[in-house]
Amino acid sequence: MSTTEEKEQAIAEDEQAAEVTPVKPGTWRFLIPIAAFAVGFVSLLFVGWVIFPPLLYSEKEQPVDFSHKIHQEAVDEGCESCHFFREDGSFSGIPGLENCAECHEEPMGEHREEAKFIKEYVEPGKEIPWYVYARQPQCVFFSHAAHVKMGELECATCHGPVGDSDHTRPYQYNRLTKYSRDIWGWNIAGYKLFGQKNTWDRMKMDDCAKCHEEMTGEKGACFVCHK
Ligand code: HEC
Ligand code: HEC
Ligand code: HEC
Ligand code: HEC
Ligand code: HEC
Repeated sequence: MSTTEEKEQAIAEDEQAAEVTPVKPGTWRFLIPIAAFAVGFVSLLFVGWVIFPPLLYSEKEQPVDFSHKIHQEAVDEGCESCHFFREDGSFSGIPGLENCAECHEEPMGEHREEAKFIKEYVEPGKEIPWYVYARQPQCVFFSHAAHVKMGELECATCHGPVGDSDHTRPYQYNRLTKYSRDIWGWNIAGYKLFGQKNTWDRMKMDDCAKCHEEMTGEKGACFVCHK
């Protein structure tokens, strides 16, 4: 076959093919708004989930990397060795330096974090400025006695597995309100999503009220939580 014949045949085949699958102009155009919407939606998600949180939240390391795990073995009375109720029913919260110094006047081991802790806090007698992950705004009244003694709730129900942790996690707070991120939760949208099914994932007003309603049958008046 000569090359012209080949070309003619090829053209004929092309035309045939074109006839079999005709491309009607405009049939795909309906995809444009859908694609535009998808791109817009994905970029919004990106801004909302990836860019916005680091802008909104600032992060600080705890002053000492304290291991609950190590100390669970070191103390006699478990959590109550450090977090106990005083005689008047008030909760001791995070233990003061005095409690730590009972054991750490001198180094107990070779741990680098312990050496740092003794040098920076025990020797100069300086209290450790811990960040409290669960810290609520000032207007909120919260009593541990009501929940732990009367309500018989476990610490982990509201705090998660802090008591078993080997390291302190960074403390994150909202740059605008200065509230701890643990209050508003790890999800910007404010909804509990997949995997966020625990009580301790978030402790906003509605979350407190939800448990109250479940356990006592009523949401409670404003003045219950706001004195
Ligand atoms: C009942 C005794 C006891 C008390 C009270 C105690 N510790 Fe310890 N601590 C230990 C022992 C034991 C170790 C392990 C020592 C080692 O092997 O280095 C340890 C280790 C440490 C370490 C190094 C390991 C780590 O956790 O990163 C730090 C830091 C520390 N303690 C800080 C504290 C602080 C802060 C307090 C007070 C809130 C405190 N300890 C109270 C006994 C105690
Ligand atoms: C040796 C003293 C010690 C013992 C024992 C101890 N803790 Fe702590 N706990 C601390 C210190 C110091 C902090 C502050 C540093 C931190 O957040 O880890 C703390 C912080 C916490 C917090 C964080 C509160 C917040 O929102 O910031 C919780 C919850 C907690 N402890 C629960 C427990 C539980 C549960 C146990 C028993 C399994 C326990 N602790 C045993 C010393 C202790
Ligand atoms: C019903 C939920 C709930 C339970 C149960 C609970 N906590 Fe808390 N905890 C909170 C809240 C909310 C705060 C913050 C209170 C505030 O800001 O006034 C807090 C604060 C704390 C703090 C920091 C206090 C401070 O001011 O230094 C410690 C430590 C702590 N809890 C330990 C515990 C331990 C240990 C238990 C178990 C014996 C426990 N919590 C049980 C909700 C709870
Ligand atoms: C997991 C369940 C649960 C969660 C979460 C919870 N509570 Fe409660 N709360 C209770 C129960 C149960 C009682 C009732 C205790 C009783 O009187 O027997 C109670 C009682 C109270 C009381 C009344 C104390 C009194 O003087 O009678 C206050 C105030 C309170 N809660 C505040 C809060 C706040 C603020 C939050 C959120 C930061 C919160 N609670 C989260 C279960 C919960
Ligand atoms: C079960 C406890 C509880 C009850 C009941 C409750 N609140 Fe709250 N409220 C909270 C907690 C916890 C916060 C802080 C976390 C947040 O902002 O969601 C809060 C925050 C607020 C704030 C925002 C304050 C700030 O500084 O961010 C306002 C306003 C408020 N509550 C008003 C009310 C009013 C009005 C009622 C009665 C209709 C009410 N609350 C009932 C627990 C409660």
